Amino acid sequence: MPAASRPRVLSGIRPTGSSFQLGNWVGAVRHWAAMQDEADCFYFVADLHALIDTPDPAQLRRRTREAVAELLALGLDPARSTVFVQSHVRQHAELAWALGCLTGFGEASRMTQFKEKGGGSVGLFTYPVLQAADILLYAADAVPIGEDQRQHLELTRDLAQRFNARYGDTLVVPAAYQGREGERIKDLQDPARKMSKSIGGAGTVWVLDDPKALTKKVRSAVTDTGREVVASPDKPGVTNLLTILSVATGRDVPALQDDFAGKGYGDLKAAVADALVALFAPVRERYDALVADPGHLDAVLAEGAERAREVAERTMAAVRERAGLLAPAPAHPTGAA
Ligand code: TYM
Repeated sequence: MPAASRPRVLSGIRPTGSSFQLGNWVGAVRHWAAMQDEADCFYFVADLHALIDTPDPAQLRRRTREAVAELLALGLDPARSTVFVQSHVRQHAELAWALGCLTGFGEASRMTQFKEKGGGSVGLFTYPVLQAADILLYAADAVPIGEDQRQHLELTRDLAQRFNARYGDTLVVPAAYQGREGERIKDLQDPARKMSKSIGGAGTVWVLDDPKALTKKVRSAVTDTGREVVASPDKPGVTNLLTILSVATGRDVPALQDDFAGKGYGDLKAAVADALVALFAPVRERYDALVADPGHLDAVLAEGAERAREVAERTMAAVRERAGLLAPAPAHPTGAA
């Protein structure tokens, strides 16, 4: 199918933490990879969003390149998808400004991420507005994200509708988020909270963990009272492990429960560890080869940025024109007075 007749898909990931964690793969990146044939896909590393934590500059640069290598190792194919770095396309910051002018102060204050942190920088405050710009620049029809990003997508829809109402039909309103039950991966040490790059520690499985470290983390996962391997609200630890195993093996949870009838938590953990090692070992191998060739990564990113800029500039030109920003007059040709 030609790109023009396929739905447009866009999503992003921050280059924070020491690599992506299991939840990033389950909730987002595996869907990104699966959508490459049916959609016109744009995937990016959100380095402007990572800047909110003011990371060490050298580390941010290194992690940004590594994050690209991870995405490719996890199955993104630059021949089928546009893979780029957010800051390489200046229009993200530009559209964020225009959308910020349509965002209410109270509206931004109510966003969970800002509320949970109890304050912070103006960057943290306007984080969701930049995310809306990321999405709207590419006229995305669908945005594959984990459950925790749902509120940001709702704001994006509101801002697109508001812009269109104020200035005339310009921005594509992305489809409402379709929550997928059972794909929220929890911290192995505290199954009451989501697994996250910023928490790290023994409860976070990194995609690039070596088999020994990975197995150790799964073996020491917190489980629940009782001994039956069943998913239920009073067994959040076991439920999380079953979810992980289900995603890693492609077998559904009821079938897995049957497999484990008469077996215990130790057997479940062994199966989860084996499945994750089998899943991520080839990813690590591909990753090692990719980071060893920075020239190739740079070439992928140069091409991705060029394709992304073309689409982003088309939207931004329309936004400038609709909003009434005066187009610059063409410069004098050299030599002319
Ligand atoms: P980030 O980098 O925190 O996470 C990347 C993706 O992983 C999903 N995710 C999870 N899914 C299931 N279980 C978990 N434990 C889990 N942890 C993370 C997230 O929902 C996300 O889809 N703000 C975004 C990055 C971003 C973006 C965008 C995404 C910036 N601009 C535009 C989409 C469109 C973020 O911080 O994701």
